[in-house]
Amino acid sequence: MSKLITKAKMIVDKDFVISEVDPRIYGSFIEHLGRAVYGGLYEPDHPSADGDGFRQDVIDLVKELQVPIIRYPGGNMVSAYNWEDGVGPREERPDRLELAWRVIETNEIGTNEFMDWTRKVGSEAMMAVNLGTRGIDAARNLLEYTNHPGGTYWSELRKEHGYKDPHNIKTWCLGNEMDGPWQVGHKTAYEYGRLANETGKAMRLVDPSIELVSCGSSNSDMPTFPSWEAETLEHTYDVADYISLHQYYGNHDNDTANYLAQSLEMDHFIHTVIATCDYIKAKKRSKKQMMLSFDEWNVWFHSNEQDKKIEPWSVAPPQLEDVYTFEDALLVGSLLNTMLKHSDRVKMACMAQLVNVIAPIMTENGGGAWKQTIFYPYYYTSVYGRGVTLNPVINSPKYDSKDFTDVPYLDASVVYNEANEEVVIFATNRHLEDTLRVDIDVRSFADYDTIEHVVLENDDPKAINTFQNQQVQPHNNGESFFEDDNLVGILPKMSWNMIRLKKQ
Ligand code: AHR
Repeated sequence: MSKLITKAKMIVDKDFVISEVDPRIYGSFIEHLGRAVYGGLYEPDHPSADGDGFRQDVIDLVKELQVPIIRYPGGNMVSAYNWEDGVGPREERPDRLELAWRVIETNEIGTNEFMDWTRKVGSEAMMAVNLGTRGIDAARNLLEYTNHPGGTYWSELRKEHGYKDPHNIKTWCLGNEMDGPWQVGHKTAYEYGRLANETGKAMRLVDPSIELVSCGSSNSDMPTFPSWEAETLEHTYDVADYISLHQYYGNHDNDTANYLAQSLEMDHFIHTVIATCDYIKAKKRSKKQMMLSFDEWNVWFHSNEQDKKIEPWSVAPPQLEDVYTFEDALLVGSLLNTMLKHSDRVKMACMAQLVNVIAPIMTENGGGAWKQTIFYPYYYTSVYGRGVTLNPVINSPKYDSKDFTDVPYLDASVVYNEANEEVVIFATNRHLEDTLRVDIDVRSFADYDTIEHVVLENDDPKAINTFQNQQVQPHNNGESFFEDDNLVGILPKMSWNMIRLKKQ
């Protein structure tokens, strides 16, 4: 433990409720990209493969994460995807040029197999429709195929394909990143807004119980952000329930202090999208509150150079295989804190992605599966961050970095699980040298005591995990104690912590 001590204070009060946490904030994403599906989920020759060819070792790790919802099948890939290619007898499915990632898509896995897999891991699906090369017709047919009980062309075809019962997929994304010039079938805000609204209307006629996500900007640096949100929502406000946010982070300048502050950027992004939604709400005199689906977020930069060397038109090449460092895990912890603190509006979020492709879980073809550094904050927050979020009043010393001013060393979120009589504090110490002593006034939880203080710490911000060597792993020996009715948490320098209190 470092010797220098910096001090911070925090108040945690039962009455400072932000919102119920929608568990879908701990969602994830599987795209037909790289080795996510082939070699990740599905590898029929693998020693752990089950009767359907799915890797049991991967299923077990995904189940550990308790992922409530998984977005599929893309991502950029969906914008030129023919969903019909991926259903029916396997031997009749075509090999296709997959244009987003310039690979060959064999279509061995499609909608039905993915739904089988989601049932194995205990998740629900968030399905995206192609609004790049296709539109209303393909979307309403797919929905009829997946959700209609029977007696019509597409629902009977599903039955013929071996699925008597409908999949009843509840959540649907109206396309993916349609503001991005790289997207096949890229659209202007006007074109997208019109198409998304008309597609959503038709889908709702097929199944009025579904929820729809309208595409927000691909990231907050897009030149059209946030006018894209304002203009598209003019069209989709009534039909959509959510607007999407996507953002990837990276330590491009190798400046750890600056990097760890990037969750402030996420916070600002969320604020701006909320403001834009509420502006349209006011303009339309609407009573409806637009919710946010942060359905792509993570660190993504390590693999950028490597990906340029991948030859086009191969099957399942190792694309976007970021190997995550300890400092990436710290930022991921703070990104989760940021979304939790916005849980009144951020109802769904997807760590992008889940297996092999910018993922918490890695596999070797024919070999093992292991946990990347970022697995850990995701795991603990997903498993223990269920209940209502409480607004922590934080008084922390601050620092300035290259891109940020007034960055609090202490970053924290708090979740109260009334049913389990537990209060869980997720806290990052961003200080690179000093231990942080946090005096926490837990006032309304006087009869609670600490049952666990998990710490993720490492002297090397660049430490990584491999199958052979798990250098970055949490331990359960965190130091926290009660002093003068206050809970005192001792957070080592550069550390992510979970302090769990239970009623005695
Ligand atoms: O997750 C990787 C890619 O990032 C997705 O396909 C796309 O939607 C985003 O740009």
